[in-house]
Amino acid sequence: MSLKTDFAEMQKQKVRQIENILQEYLPKQKGCQKLIMEAMGYSLMAGGKRLRPMLMKETYELFNGTSRAVYPFMAAIEMIHTYSLVHDDLPAMDNDDYRRGRKTTHVVYGEDMGILAGDALLNFAFETAFKAFVMEPEDSLLIGRALTVLGEKAGIYGMIGGQVIDVKETGHAVEKEVLDTIYELKTSALIESSMMIGAIIGGASEEEVKIVEQIAKHVGISFQIQDDILDVTSTKEVLGKPIRSDEKNEKTTYVTLFGIDRAAEIVKERSEEAVRLLVSLSGENTYLEELLKKLIYREK
Ligand code: IPE
Ligand code: IPE
Ligand code: MG
Ligand code: MG
Ligand code: MG
Repeated sequence: MSLKTDFAEMQKQKVRQIENILQEYLPKQKGCQKLIMEAMGYSLMAGGKRLRPMLMKETYELFNGTSRAVYPFMAAIEMIHTYSLVHDDLPAMDNDDYRRGRKTTHVVYGEDMGILAGDALLNFAFETAFKAFVMEPEDSLLIGRALTVLGEKAGIYGMIGGQVIDVKETGHAVEKEVLDTIYELKTSALIESSMMIGAIIGGASEEEVKIVEQIAKHVGISFQIQDDILDVTSTKEVLGKPIRSDEKNEKTTYVTLFGIDRAAEIVKERSEEAVRLLVSLSGENTYLEELLKKLIYREK
């Protein structure tokens, strides 16, 4: 088998494994409030690249982690990411009607349930992560540190903070420094959270966790720039979400500031910096290295 199909096959397997974990932690659809469980499952199980739980698991492997506490955290980060998408698509935000290859949650379940499904996924993420204490009580200190990262990177100092600036800086020119802050917060923060939690539960030292945070920052920024590029160059069928959403919403992006070619160069530069830092760490994970390199040329 060629190297290329090897990687693709491994990636598929890893996505399947992640989806089994998500399914395991999703609430059972029962009770008078069954509708909300259904809406949560609708968005969470719709597909998607599962990049964040994958980065978490691979970083954990990099540090030869053995604690089962990583599994509820993998589910939790994907729940938080999915809630951020459900709310990002709402009429009051980006107003998009298509996500992960299907109608958005608010289109199918109504705006009220769209808001509540997002809230529910966010809350359930923490309910899920707390299960790690019962699974691995002797790792309580690590779990506590991981929870602190999970909370901070998702909140006003992380993703929510980024979405706030993103929304406020719409419809007018934005300087590169402000745009970088938006990307660092709205996108890198959850990627940092994913990799840092993998490192923490994997047993990394504080210094190593800091390096992992830097790696993830580069990954997150490149990931968002590539998202901006694909918003212009791809198709709805390939992406599973509408194209030209940024133009519709009058967003300043790396594409509007620098053009597609320069933006693509920056994706490459920042990703290579991430890989350089990754190989400087003492552990080795060739799959993770390959994954970061492949993200430069991702088409969805
Ligand atoms: C979309 O994230 C939002 C951004 C941060 C650009 P993904 O591109 O990872 O979305 P899914 O999870 O694959 O649907
Ligand atoms: C969103 O950025 C980042 C989030 C925190 C959801 P975008 O608005 O560009 O994400 P897409 O393109 O809708 O996935
Ligand atoms: Mg948005
Ligand atoms: Mg959007
Ligand atoms: Mg986008």
